[in-house]
Amino acid sequence: MSYKRVVITKFGSARVIKSIEESNLPEPGFGEVRIKVLVTSAAFTDVMIREGKYPDLKKKPPFSPGYDMVGIVDKLGEGANRFKVGQRVADLTVIGSYSEYICLPENRLTLVPEDLDPAEEVCLILSYLTAYQMLHRVAKVKRGQPILIHGAGGAVGTAMIQLGKLLDLEIYGTASKSKHELIASLGAVPIDYQTEDFVERIKTLTKDGVDACFDPIGGDNLKRSFRVLRQHGILVSYGFYNAVIRKSGGILIDFLRLKLWNILPNDRSTAFYSIAALRQKHPTWFSEDLSELLNLLAQRKIEPIIFKRMPLSEAKQAHELIEKGKVQGKIVLNVAPMPV
Ligand SMILES: NC(=O)c1ccc[n+]([C@@H]2O[C@H](COP(=O)([O-])OP(=O)(O)OC[C@H]3O[C@@H](n4cnc5c(N)ncnc54)[C@H](OP(=O)(O)O)[C@@H]3O)[C@@H](O)[C@H]2O)c1
Repeated sequence: MSYKRVVITKFGSARVIKSIEESNLPEPGFGEVRIKVLVTSAAFTDVMIREGKYPDLKKKPPFSPGYDMVGIVDKLGEGANRFKVGQRVADLTVIGSYSEYICLPENRLTLVPEDLDPAEEVCLILSYLTAYQMLHRVAKVKRGQPILIHGAGGAVGTAMIQLGKLLDLEIYGTASKSKHELIASLGAVPIDYQTEDFVERIKTLTKDGVDACFDPIGGDNLKRSFRVLRQHGILVSYGFYNAVIRKSGGILIDFLRLKLWNILPNDRSTAFYSIAALRQKHPTWFSEDLSELLNLLAQRKIEPIIFKRMPLSEAKQAHELIEKGKVQGKIVLNVAPMPV
């Protein structure tokens, strides 16, 4: 039986994204299961991977991107006994999910509820988990604290506002004007990074700065983020938007800056967050935190902002929307018809 998948033919612009047809389904190896993918997503991290700028990935094209997926167990490989055919599972795949079928080791998979929208479930895996772990595992924020979120109208930003509101945090978020209505509707105070100096605004809006600042932008932005911290505050860096999109600043320099600020006596700290690295170090945190997010979703305490649901065949257009900064919340890619 044939199946379709999307590949990047080489590192580069969205033009390297192609749909191909494989003539035979992949066969699960020992301890693996084959999954019929229902949904995956398009995120800024997929853009970094496509451009060959994702620090931890050694694989060279051609390959299928796709950082996360929710799907149905379709076939068990030899020795695989954790799941039954027909169960719904999820994983943070990093690459590979832009495909109608994928084989994965069963011990990586998380069983997910079948009565929730798979499109909402997939939003939890990369974007909400990143937001949740940075708040709870890295910054360890406390109820009511003031925080600053950069890129607040994006997938991680909107997730973090919703999760922060559950802790009654006082939330400030930078974004371009087009995303301010959304940010305010979620209960945060928007700051226009294109026309305002966020360091000055934070000084005016808070007494002495914020307890935590979350920065996926990097470069000059990172330096200014450090300046909005109050005593004992923490700067969590987790991305390099400027280096990838605006070709300004350098990833290595950002890492060095973070290390230096941590050493110097300044009563403030820094951390770099990587979802894949943290999962490797603490695999149980990954499943515990994803379960907690699924509980919050089932209770409608969080409601993922889905900007668009597009077919997998439009992955190229999805990447282009992300690169233009047009996306409010998350783009979900439908791979198979939704179960009813
Ligand atoms: N380290 C990890 O484990 C990890 C995990 C997930 C994501 N990430 C990273 O987190 C970042 C955000 O991911 P995402 O999926 O939320 O991306 P996204 O949905 O594309 O959101 C990022 C948003 O940032 C805004 N932005 C651009 N320049 C800005 C600036 N100077 N100041 C404030 N906002 C700015 C853009 O919108 P406007 O310009 O219109 O405001 C953009 O839409 C990416 O860099 C991604 O690689 C890292």
